[in-house]
Amino acid sequence: MDKLLIRGGNRLSGTIPISGAKNAALTLIPCALLTDEPVTLRNLPRLADIDGFQHLMGQFGVAHTIAGHRPEDFGRVMTMEAPRITSTVAPYDLVRKMRASILVLGPMLARMGEATVSLPGGCAIGNRPIDLHLKALEAFGAHIELAQGYVRAIAPDGGLPGGEYDFPVVSVGATENAVMAAVLAKGTSKLINAAREPEIVDLCNLLVAMGAEMEGIGTSELTIHGVKRLHGATYRVMPDRIEAGSYACAAAITGGEVLLEGANFDDMASTIHALRNIGVEVEQVKGGVHVAANGPLKAHNLTTAPFPGLATDMQAQLMSLLCKAEGTSVLKETIFENRFMHVPELARMGANIETSGRTAVVRGPVELTGAEVMATDLRASMSLVIAGLAAEGETTVRRLYHLDRGYERLEEKLQLVGADIERVGDD
Ligand code: EPZ
Repeated sequence: MDKLLIRGGNRLSGTIPISGAKNAALTLIPCALLTDEPVTLRNLPRLADIDGFQHLMGQFGVAHTIAGHRPEDFGRVMTMEAPRITSTVAPYDLVRKMRASILVLGPMLARMGEATVSLPGGCAIGNRPIDLHLKALEAFGAHIELAQGYVRAIAPDGGLPGGEYDFPVVSVGATENAVMAAVLAKGTSKLINAAREPEIVDLCNLLVAMGAEMEGIGTSELTIHGVKRLHGATYRVMPDRIEAGSYACAAAITGGEVLLEGANFDDMASTIHALRNIGVEVEQVKGGVHVAANGPLKAHNLTTAPFPGLATDMQAQLMSLLCKAEGTSVLKETIFENRFMHVPELARMGANIETSGRTAVVRGPVELTGAEVMATDLRASMSLVIAGLAAEGETTVRRLYHLDRGYERLEEKLQLVGADIERVGDD
């Protein structure tokens, strides 16, 4: 396993290329199951989770080719083709490694009339049930069985009739599964209180490019008119708003100034609002988003919420930044029940943070000092890297497989803007 060595204190300056969005790619890839024609995704990030998903798709008989990228390029072009599905089962040993595998349930059910997927189980940030995925599919006419740790979904012969489901809780994944199931239904389906994240807009845009018919894209009310078949398409994955927000925090904590090349300003609105309130200058410029931290950082209260609220995936990174802000910041995590695992590690670097349930109180500014820290989940790991960039001395971040799931060539991107960071083998 590798580790990162970070020597803090360098002011970041320059341009960071933003990759395609992990959480968009993970719902775009299973769309290849919905047609027997080729689906080509451009600007696909090179991440462990994407490789894992591709391996899972191979289990179903989906062939893929990678083209158009040199080793030094960020991102790649991948074409998937599923003329015949050879298996409708997503096995435990693959699903347990990547919970986003559950996103094959809807498209597989739509294409084949049945799907058997291992229950994903929880993860570090919470138990993350999939009850809303199953309730939405049942509302569209699927028969759901749970047995031996698997969920089996069956459509009546001839395919899902379609239906209506009002989500009691906003769920990104459940919305994605439901949309992918509905596009080939016999009738019309309606989702109320659907998630509105930009990644779902990306999904809907790809499906429409494949011939799907729907209204309400980008809103919390989606109406999908089932069609008989979908055709292939070529689609460019949206830029990663969380990666961009993470590097904005990295630049800000070092008092730096960077261009987030290719970032989408509107997708990042809630993060930009938070950064501006903390005293960071953020502007939309030609080619991306410009971030500069020229003045003192100010404490600011944050509460995570479904889009367009502040992304829970930005909470840990902003917390690191607030450790260097003047005053007391109160952060409320409303989405997941256990998303403060970065706090004890930040405390070992000198952070002054108290947590109680889903609330964290950050007092600053503190002098952060380098330490050996342990990554626990994807975004917590990034918060440790951000703290390390501003810490006095050397920080070692271990268990990089967490980071590699969501940040394409992190150390190379940070080296581009002057960070003293290197990846070494972990003895
Ligand atoms: C997606 O996870 C993202 N992952 C997460 O990003 C992100 O944090 C999350 O959305 C919220 O924005 C991908 O897109 C691959 P949810 P997802 O369903 O779909 C509860 C990262 O760091 N819930 O919107 O699993 C759930 O427990 C990852 O990139 C149910 O109760 O999130 C949570 O409390 C982490 N029943 C809340 O809803 C369900 O059936 C929101 O979860 C589904 C969810």
